[in-house]
Parts: sequence; C-alpha cells; structure tokens
Amino acid sequence: MSLTDQQTEMLAVVARQYGGPSSLRLDQVPCPTPGPGQVVVRVAATSVNPLDWHTMRGEPWIARLGSGLRRPTSGRLGTDLAGEVVACAADVDTLHVGDRVVGGASGAFAQFAVAKAKNLALVPPEVDMVQAAALPVAGITALQAVAAAACTAGSRVLVFGASGGVGTYAVQLAVAAGLEVVGVCSGPNVELVRSLGAVDVVDYTVDAHLATVAGPFDAIIDSVGTLPFRRCKQLLVPGGRYVVVGGPDGGRLIGPLAHLLRAKVAFVTGGRRAVALMAKIDGASMNELVRLLEGGSVGSVVDRVVPLDDIAEAIAYVETRRARGKVVVTC
Ligand SMILES: NC(=O)c1ccc[n+]([C@@H]2O[C@H](COP(=O)([O-])OP(=O)(O)OC[C@H]3O[C@@H](n4cnc5c(N)ncnc54)[C@H](OP(=O)(O)O)[C@@H]3O)[C@@H](O)[C@H]2O)c1
Repeated sequence: MSLTDQQTEMLAVVARQYGGPSSLRLDQVPCPTPGPGQVVVRVAATSVNPLDWHTMRGEPWIARLGSGLRRPTSGRLGTDLAGEVVACAADVDTLHVGDRVVGGASGAFAQFAVAKAKNLALVPPEVDMVQAAALPVAGITALQAVAAAACTAGSRVLVFGASGGVGTYAVQLAVAAGLEVVGVCSGPNVELVRSLGAVDVVDYTVDAHLATVAGPFDAIIDSVGTLPFRRCKQLLVPGGRYVVVGGPDGGRLIGPLAHLLRAKVAFVTGGRRAVALMAKIDGASMNELVRLLEGGSVGSVVDRVVPLDDIAEAIAYVETRRARGKVVVTC
C-alpha cells in the first residue's frame, strides 16, 4: 500500500513570503509522493540549522536565485530528518518500507518528507531518533571540515565555534581521528567543549585574539569568522590549513560568502592555505556518521527538543547563534 492510500494530507511548515519566524505557518498540504530515486519518510524528528533561517529570510539575497526572487517558490523548510520509510519509488532497491533512516531531504519540517534514497543511511534500532536527527547538515559539515583540514593522527587543530551545531561534532570527530583539539567558545560552554575531548578550551570573551593560545596548529576549523586572518596565519604551521565553514553576516547580498572570499584573498600570501568548505550531504558520509554515533565515539549535543508546533521559536532561538549543539524538532 502506498502512503497516499493511507493519508492524503499532512502538516508542514510553510513560508508564503520571506521574513522572520512569524512568517511561518503550520499548514495542511498534500502528502508527497516519491519521484525516481526517491523515498517518502514519516519524519520522527528533524533539526534546525542556520540554513533554515537563511532560507526563511531569503538572505543572503544571492540565494534567492534558487529559492524565488520576490517570494519563496516552494516555501518549504527543513533539511535534516530521521524517520521511517513509508513509500519507495519503483527504481529504489536500497531501501524498503519500514526502514529507519536519517539524512537530508527537502521540506523536512513536516510530518512526511521526500528524500533521495542515496542521501539516506539506515539507523540501527539501538540509535535514538533524536540523536540521529541532529546529525545530517551539522555532522556532515563537521566530517567534511575535518577531512578538509587534511591532518594526520597527532596533529593539532583549533576549532573555533566549538559549542555550536557544527563545532560540537567537529571537536568529537577530530578527537576520534586522533587529533589534538583546542576549542574556542564562550565561558558558559567551556566545560561542555572540554567534555567532548578538547585538550584545552579558550573563552573568546576573555581572549578575543587568542593571545594566550600556544600555537602552532596544523589546521583551524572556523565556523564563526571573527578571528582576524593575520592571527589565524600566525597560529598555523607553514602549509597549515584554515578551513572556512561559516562567517559573520557580511551584508544581505552575499552574506557569509563575503568571509569566504576575503579569506581566499588574505591567504594568497604567507604560505598557509584557506579552504572554503561547501558541505554536501551524501549517503557515504551519513553512513560513516551513524557508525560513529552507534559506536559511541560521537554523540549529538542536543540543546533542546521541541514539537513541530514550536518551529518558529526553535528557528528564532537558533538565529540568536547561542544554541549549544543542536535544536531538535519532533514531528
Ligand atoms: N560551509 C558549509 O557548508 C556550512 C554548513 C553548515 C553550516 N555552515 C555555517 O557554519 C556556521 C556555524 O553553523 P552551526 O550550525 O554550528 O551554527 P550554530 O549552531 O548556530 O552556532 C552557534 C554557536 O556559535 C557560537 N558563536 C556565536 N557567536 C560567536 C562569536 N561572536 N564568537 C565565537 N563564537 C560564537 C556560539 O558559541 P558560544 O555561545 O559559546 O559563543 C554557539 O555555540 C553558520 O554560519 C552556518 O551558516 C556552513
């Protein structure tokens, strides 16, 4: 029996125009049907990423080239999901109805969402769906950032933004890879970051330019972008990598992309390299993260769990940039 035989409508978060969280509605919309290579997932839980508030606001404006210039074309939000497969396209043979899965989808802030089968991983029964739902965007970004740092066991890496969604995974993944991690976050989160395995943690509210930090580092993974490039270069070994994950707002037109471009220019000289990360969700990375979650070398740091009804508040909270780890939404 297909999903549509059982249920034709569902609740989904819809933004009819760009704006703040008050522009979001929980509407009844048709249940999705899978296209080629796709499955439909009954969403158990999803999680909020900065991508969601950027999409909600239509900022930076350059992103509207893909999402609709004056108003959102689909209006649907949400990428991360964990849930159960309820329908598969005829050409999907890797997943089956009833499978527990996690990964990336479009319109995941809903009771059901459609996803490419190749972007999902199976979730073993002993793995909690809330823990799994926190993983996709932040976990994959952290996994790919650690890979982009190109470090070998014993290397030293500085993680700036260590208490955020990406940072909490980046610290744990770097530690799991045998790297020596120094984290940077605000005072109230120092113990959290230490508990994730960082050998040292710096409170940037006390030491903004990391004057007390003893370099050098083989790599810096930065999801904040407030440390001056000159200081980043001083802290890196010759040939060391500055992995740019995120940056300050940088204006409405291109937003955090401005930071990526400035980093590329700043690192033209000095014998260190800036690597601009554009994370991409794929099944292989999802499988790797689920394996690490199941094995216990990575855990999702969950700031709070809220119901879908409270999505506007959840997005507003993540937009404050004060979330500790991830905000998970149960559907
Ligand atoms: N390149 C990519 O492919 C990619 C993928 C995903 C995300 N991103 C970007 O990466 C960034 C981080 O994502 P996320 O999910 O980790 O976001 P997040 O969870 O919202 O990050 C929140 C963290 O940022 C820290 N923070 C906020 N302001 C800070 C400041 N002035 N100085 C130092 N730390 C500060 C906070 O730490 P304290 O409270 O301890 O200060 C908080 O823990 C975002 O800009 C996002 O858009 C990029």
